[in-house]
Amino acid sequence: MKKSIIVIKILFLLTWTQTNGQKEDQSAVNQLIIVTNHSGPVISKDIYGHFSEHLGNCIYGGLWVGTDSKIPNTYGIRNDVLFALREIKVPNLRWPGGCFADTYHWKDGIGPKERRASIINTNWGGVTEDNSFGTHEFMKLTELLGCDAYINGNVGSGSVKEMADWIEYLTSGAVSPMTSLRKENGQDKPWKVKYFAIGNENWGCGGNMTAEFYSNTMKQYSTFLGNYSGNQLYRVACGPSDYNFGWTETLMKDAGTREMFQGLSIHYYSVVDGWGFKGSATKFDEREWFETMRLNLQMDNIIKGHSAIMDRYDPEKTKGLVVDEWGNWYNVEPGTNPGFLYQQNSMRDAVTAAIHLNIFNQHADRVKAANLAQMVNVLQSVILTKDDKMVLTPTYWVFRMFRVHQEATLLNIDLRCEDYVYGNKKIPAISASASVDKDGKVHISLANLNPDKPITITCPVIGDSFKKITGEVLTATQMNSYNSFENPDIVKPVAFNGFTMKDGILSITMPSKSVVVLELIK
Ligand code: AHR
Repeated sequence: MKKSIIVIKILFLLTWTQTNGQKEDQSAVNQLIIVTNHSGPVISKDIYGHFSEHLGNCIYGGLWVGTDSKIPNTYGIRNDVLFALREIKVPNLRWPGGCFADTYHWKDGIGPKERRASIINTNWGGVTEDNSFGTHEFMKLTELLGCDAYINGNVGSGSVKEMADWIEYLTSGAVSPMTSLRKENGQDKPWKVKYFAIGNENWGCGGNMTAEFYSNTMKQYSTFLGNYSGNQLYRVACGPSDYNFGWTETLMKDAGTREMFQGLSIHYYSVVDGWGFKGSATKFDEREWFETMRLNLQMDNIIKGHSAIMDRYDPEKTKGLVVDEWGNWYNVEPGTNPGFLYQQNSMRDAVTAAIHLNIFNQHADRVKAANLAQMVNVLQSVILTKDDKMVLTPTYWVFRMFRVHQEATLLNIDLRCEDYVYGNKKIPAISASASVDKDGKVHISLANLNPDKPITITCPVIGDSFKKITGEVLTATQMNSYNSFENPDIVKPVAFNGFTMKDGILSITMPSKSVVVLELIK
């Protein structure tokens, strides 16, 4: 057992025995020990990544309106959305899918717009995809956001040559047919591409392959994905969804010890009551709230299960888990195209985001990137748009509050807390993580999963003393409160002062159904 863990355990026992006599005092039941001078791995900023698919109004209307639009834009990308996204410090953006990626032929989306092929978006509503948003537009978007590109290649219906050419077109500074083509299309210098995925969900929409078949195919593709002109690709192999540990085992056994891929993806959506009737995003009861939280917490077990397999083949943790699709998936909003996956976003989704981001932080040793599905107008998005209007969702605010963890060092914590009980089921009522940034500021992020009661938690802060503490809280009057185009500021963070600090012990009272982030300055 690591020394820091032993220290935490001893401290926990001491503080627990000291406070356990006060039976009525909730702060005795809820305790979070934070050790500020025993740190863990660095939390990759890429855990806070996003996902933009050619699906519904994520790209078209949401991010991209075109240069001729009346909606104010920069090179066709709408300004309101762009400026809002800059505030949450998007570290990387995944594109063009999702399932769309394995139908996407990148040469359809380059060159003069009037000559680009119009195709059918077979996965998402059968609508016409005119390819007006392609490689150059995506790379411009990443440049304007100041984020890294995460491009998902086509294995399912593409070819090795097509994928190899795309990498050359994007990243090579040498003389070649692909680099000449790029220059003809207006981009002289090669771009940098950080992440490149070799297919998406190849066990399903990406080709219905077995793990063995995919593993062989992936190795073939990977062999031809070059590192050009100083660009180092972080190649992401298609991983499993949920608890499909067999897929991970096969890939790690077959290709995990060779330099065929650097990251393995995982997808996990929380879907209450299964894929048939998934429930409404805003009209739900406490059973659905509880079930959502319970499913969200499963992310921890899923990561632990896949990590344990990876540990056997890669004990040095040279390969990362890339949770490149996660979030809540509900029925579409009534009256909208079922193929567009447009859903509202409530206080429930804010708590969901906090739970996931805390879990990813806690697994910073293995989880190197993650991407919320999706960025705008699709599934658990951070932004919704309607014509020229824009709304920031409760999930957006959690990303804004949690941005302080990006590239910070994970701190060791020990959390003991009461249960949130519903019917005959129970889950922990609190989610938490903590980090210290390069300036020595400590950030603690917490969520109270219980929609019915405030919770007080005692936090002995061991290691350093702090002079100044500030905080923010995100909560709402109802569990289904949400921001609409008519009332965009219903769920928004405000300054938080529900804490005291005495003799190195913080006491925090979180409102019911809330997310709190505290900053401690020495
Ligand atoms: O995010 C929506 C879809 O969910 C993606 O296209 C696919 O990868 C997943 O099944």
